Amino acid sequence: MEKTFVMLKPDAVKRGLVGSIIKRYEQKGLKILALKMLQVTEDLAEKHYEEHRDKPFYRELVNFITSGPVVAMILEGPNAIKLVRLLNGATKAEDALPGTIRGDYALTTQENLVHASDSSESARREIALWFPELSF
Ligand code: CMP
Repeated sequence: MEKTFVMLKPDAVKRGLVGSIIKRYEQKGLKILALKMLQVTEDLAEKHYEEHRDKPFYRELVNFITSGPVVAMILEGPNAIKLVRLLNGATKAEDALPGTIRGDYALTTQENLVHASDSSESARREIALWFPELSF
């Protein structure tokens, strides 16, 4: 079994898509191990996106992610990291295929509804960063 970190971004909450998105993960058979809604602080946003610090869109990304509440969760299942990224679809809006979360609901690359860990190292780091109260 593998664990992955998933965040439903402020656009998912504002657009009322939280239930529809979570339903897709559950219907696939992934198990929700932890889930919380929170307002992201600038500090947490900067730590979460530290690998993008030098990108031109970094400041805008931090502003977006702190613009309203998000839903953070830990999902578990066989190959959960790869599976969740397949369900989410490509990061770039124009590459996200219909049938994926982004392909069906997102129009832009920044407001792309969901974030998911891209490797076991990032899953470990992100779970520890977002759920420090849990010990796995
Ligand atoms: P995410 O999977 O959370 O990882 C980094 C985020 O940066 C990405 O989703 C997008 O929200 C955002 N992002 C990536 N590329 C761009 C871009 N070219 N312009 C604006 N935002 C981007």
